[in-house]
Amino acid sequence: MPAAALATPEEDPAEALPLPTLPVIRDGCLGDAPSLRALELRSFPGNHMSLRQFRFHLRSPRAHLLVAEVDGALVGSATVLVRANSRRARLYSIMVDPAARGLGLGRSLLARAEQVARQAGARQLYLEVRQDNAAAIAMYERLGYRRIGQEAAYYDDGADAWRYAREL
Ligand SMILES: CC(C)(COP(=O)(O)OP(=O)(O)OC[C@H]1O[C@@H](n2cnc3c(N)ncnc32)[C@H](O)[C@@H]1OP(=O)(O)O)[C@@H](O)C(=O)NCCC(=O)NCCS
Repeated sequence: MPAAALATPEEDPAEALPLPTLPVIRDGCLGDAPSLRALELRSFPGNHMSLRQFRFHLRSPRAHLLVAEVDGALVGSATVLVRANSRRARLYSIMVDPAARGLGLGRSLLARAEQVARQAGARQLYLEVRQDNAAAIAMYERLGYRRIGQEAAYYDDGADAWRYAREL
């Protein structure tokens, strides 16, 4: 294309469009604890982790806490617990801000959580989920998790959990 035919920045329609900001998934740090706690309160009806529990996980060598950010705002997280010499890792928590759901962030966080678990030597990732949590169950089943058991009265309010797992 001759140079003369190139649009100037002022004329380039792409320049005028606001670019969508892609989420960034990174390792969490201690400074994220207050935002994680706020996200937890927005994401779950009960069984909330305290600020202290978040700090504990952020410091623990057994925990891998991933966070998702959009424009510097924390909009999701996933926590994987690993044990030395264990082939099984546990997805301890995964959450996405209600305002950012249905956009693929849960799927991306889960994929990264699986990667982290594999890198730590695990060959299976397992988790518990409330039996009435239709969205989370749909996500796990869609992404290859199979139901392997249940835990009666697993939650503070007496609700039962399913246990799911996926080979990595
Ligand atoms: C579960 C949760 C993390 C999903 O996050 P999300 O970013 O909305 O999920 P995604 O957009 O990546 O969706 C991934 C898949 O999950 C399923 N899914 C997600 N939300 C769903 C809903 N409301 N209804 C049915 N299926 C749903 C779909 O199969 C979807 O795949 P598809 O888009 O190819 O159809 C989110 O709903 C959440 O934070 N819930 C509250 C916290 C929670 O319950 N965590 C799990 C505890 S075990």
